[in-house]
Amino acid sequence: MVSTSTRIGSFHFDNCLMNAAGVYCFSKEELEAIDTSAAGSFVTKTATLEARQGNPEPRYVDTDLGSINSMGLPNLGIDYYLDYVTQLQDTPNSKNHFLSLVGMSPEDTHTILKKVQDSAYKGLVELNLSCPNVPGKPQIAYDFETTDQLLAEVFSYYKKPLGVKLPPYFDIVHFDQAAAIFNKYPLTFVNCINSIGNGLVISDETVVIKPKDGFGGIGGDYVKPTALANVHAFYKRLNPTIAIIGTGGVRTGRDAFEHILCGASMVQIGTILHQEGPEAFTRITKELQDIMSEKGYQSLEDFRGKLQYLS
Ligand code: DHB
Repeated sequence: MVSTSTRIGSFHFDNCLMNAAGVYCFSKEELEAIDTSAAGSFVTKTATLEARQGNPEPRYVDTDLGSINSMGLPNLGIDYYLDYVTQLQDTPNSKNHFLSLVGMSPEDTHTILKKVQDSAYKGLVELNLSCPNVPGKPQIAYDFETTDQLLAEVFSYYKKPLGVKLPPYFDIVHFDQAAAIFNKYPLTFVNCINSIGNGLVISDETVVIKPKDGFGGIGGDYVKPTALANVHAFYKRLNPTIAIIGTGGVRTGRDAFEHILCGASMVQIGTILHQEGPEAFTRITKELQDIMSEKGYQSLEDFRGKLQYLS
């Protein structure tokens, strides 16, 4: 029997597939649906210090090739998600989980992370440096100086396992510069990629979502080549102690296989989870296992990062 189990830092997961932040993770009910599915873990909706309503609707639309969203960080506030994952970690046979968070300012980010540091939560935290949808707030990770300064401040007091969610980068120099910054810090993982920010989808003569005159983050089939490139670029550049989580364009077991081939240790599913629901994990896991069986691979280690180049 082939195994799709994996590790991130010192945390074990029976399956490498899980939701991507933003999908099926707003409430305890949604998170429970992921927790009881074939997924190996869940990540919570990115939490801010206080609860937020987010942007006006319609703010998420599925398209034939993926999705566009400008949610605007609706969430129930850090206390809601921190209490839930802390409570879950003490239940028998609990899976390991990811708590996603970011402040609306650097001060808020530090307040939130200090709360997590001082809490009983022992699991993984994903610091989201890549939300594209809050009007007037640029993505942190596109500003390398701010990113470097924020991580220096964070790691001066934060001692629990922490990773970052990154936006896609599109230039080799930016891969080099970003990786040089991340290699300075004891990150447990980087997660590539968030949506491709500020795309535009049009139906007849009109945009399809209301916020930001229709501009929103693009996910699904559109983004897979960009996601794979970012996963592999960081896999080649980061210290081997920093695991890569691959996110973007995973609809089938073949897509998950390609992310792992590019170096991913865990693979997140967003748009197709929104479209199919948590049963998607059963289907995609089976498709991934079938590919591994056909190729004679028994574990992810047999092919992770082993992408071949043309000579
Ligand atoms: C939202 C979108 C993102 O891509 C993200 O990383 C965080 C929040 C949002 O619009 O809610």
